[in-house]
Amino acid sequence: MVKQDQLSCFFEKDVLITGGLGFIGSNLAIKLVRLGAKVTLLDAMIDEHGGNLYNIEPVKDNVFINFSDVRDENSIKYLVRGRDYIFHLAGQNDHILSLVNPFPDIDINIKGAAILLEACRKYNPKGRLIYTGTRGEYGPAARLPVNEDTPINPKGIYELSSLTAQRLFQIYHNNHSVKSITLRLTNIYGERAQMRHNRFGVANWFIRLAIDNETIKVFGDGSLIRDFLSVDDTVDAILMCAATEEAYGEVFNVGDDRPSSFLELAKTVVDVAGSGRWEFAPFTPERAAQEPGDFYSDISKIKRIVGWEPRCDLAEGIRKTVAYYRENKPYYW
Ligand SMILES: NC(=O)c1ccc[n+]([C@@H]2O[C@H](COP(=O)([O-])OP(=O)(O)OC[C@H]3O[C@@H](n4cnc5c(N)ncnc54)[C@H](O)[C@@H]3O)[C@@H](O)[C@H]2O)c1
Repeated sequence: MVKQDQLSCFFEKDVLITGGLGFIGSNLAIKLVRLGAKVTLLDAMIDEHGGNLYNIEPVKDNVFINFSDVRDENSIKYLVRGRDYIFHLAGQNDHILSLVNPFPDIDINIKGAAILLEACRKYNPKGRLIYTGTRGEYGPAARLPVNEDTPINPKGIYELSSLTAQRLFQIYHNNHSVKSITLRLTNIYGERAQMRHNRFGVANWFIRLAIDNETIKVFGDGSLIRDFLSVDDTVDAILMCAATEEAYGEVFNVGDDRPSSFLELAKTVVDVAGSGRWEFAPFTPERAAQEPGDFYSDISKIKRIVGWEPRCDLAEGIRKTVAYYRENKPYYW
C-alpha cells in the first residue's frame, strides 16, 4: 500500500500522457511535473473534446507536447519507447454523439487502445500502463454500491467501447506481460474541463450556468444519485494506483462512497457560487436514453489495495472549481 508521500517514485520518470491536454490529463500532467517527472503530452486536439492549451499554463515550459493521434500507428510506435509510465486518457467520451454515430467510439476508444497496446508490446514491453475507463461499463446498477464484481451490462456504444478497451488492457497484461491497471471513473468534475457544451461533464455544466447567473435544469425530481468526484482526488487515485505494485492486473472503481443527488448538486453549486438558480425539468429524450439510474461506487477495493480514498467533499470541490472558472472564464467559454 502506498501513501501520498510515496508518489516520489515518479521523480525523473519518463511519462507519456495520451489526451494530456484534456481535462483529467492536464491535471495529471501538472501534478506529475510537480513530482519531478519528465512529461510528454500526446493530444490530437479533436474538436468538441476537452483539449485546451491553456489547461497546462502552469507547466507549459516543463512539458513536451506532441500533437498526434493515438490511431496513428507510426507515431505511436516511436512515442511509447522508453516510457516508464503511459497514462492512456485520449478518448471520445461524448455519450450523446455515440447515440447517433458509433464510429468515433469504436475508432478512438477501441482501435486507439489496441494500437497503443500493440506498440507497447513491440517497442516498450516494460512500460507501465494506466487506462481510465468509465463506471458506465457496468450499465444500470444491479445493486448499490457497485463493486468491481458486479455483473456488467453497458448501455451504450461509448460504455461498450470503454469496456472493450479495458478488456484489451487486461488481455495484454495477462497474455503479453504489458503491465497495466484499468480504472472505472465515476462522474469527475473540477478545473480544466471543457465548458463549451453540455454533452458531457454535468457538474461542470451546472457550474457554468451558475457563474453566468442562469437556470440549472434538474431532470425529473432530482433524486437520482451519483458519486461526483473532484479531479484532484481523481489524479491522486490514478497516481497512487500507478505507484502500487499489487495494483497491476487489477480493475478499480474510482469514485466516492458518499453519493449526492442531482438536486443536492444543483443546490450546492448555486449556494457556493452565490449566483444562478435551479428548476425541475423533464428528461430530454437523449438523456433518458442514456440514463442508467442511481449509481455510486463501492471503493473498498482501491482503499484496501492502494490506500486511496477521496479527501475533498462536494462543497469544497465546487468552491475550488467555481473560483478557477471565475478567474479563467475567457479561456473556456
Ligand atoms: N471526465 C469524466 O467524468 C470521465 C469519467 C469516466 C471516464 N473518463 C475517461 O477519461 C478519459 C479522459 O477524459 P477527460 O474528461 O479528460 O476528457 P477530455 O475530452 O477533456 O480529454 C480527452 C483528450 O483526449 C484527446 N483525444 C481524443 N481523441 C484522441 C485521439 N484519437 N488521439 C489523441 N488525442 C485524442 C482530446 O483532444 C482531449 O484533449 C476519457 O477516456 C474518458 O472517457 C472521463
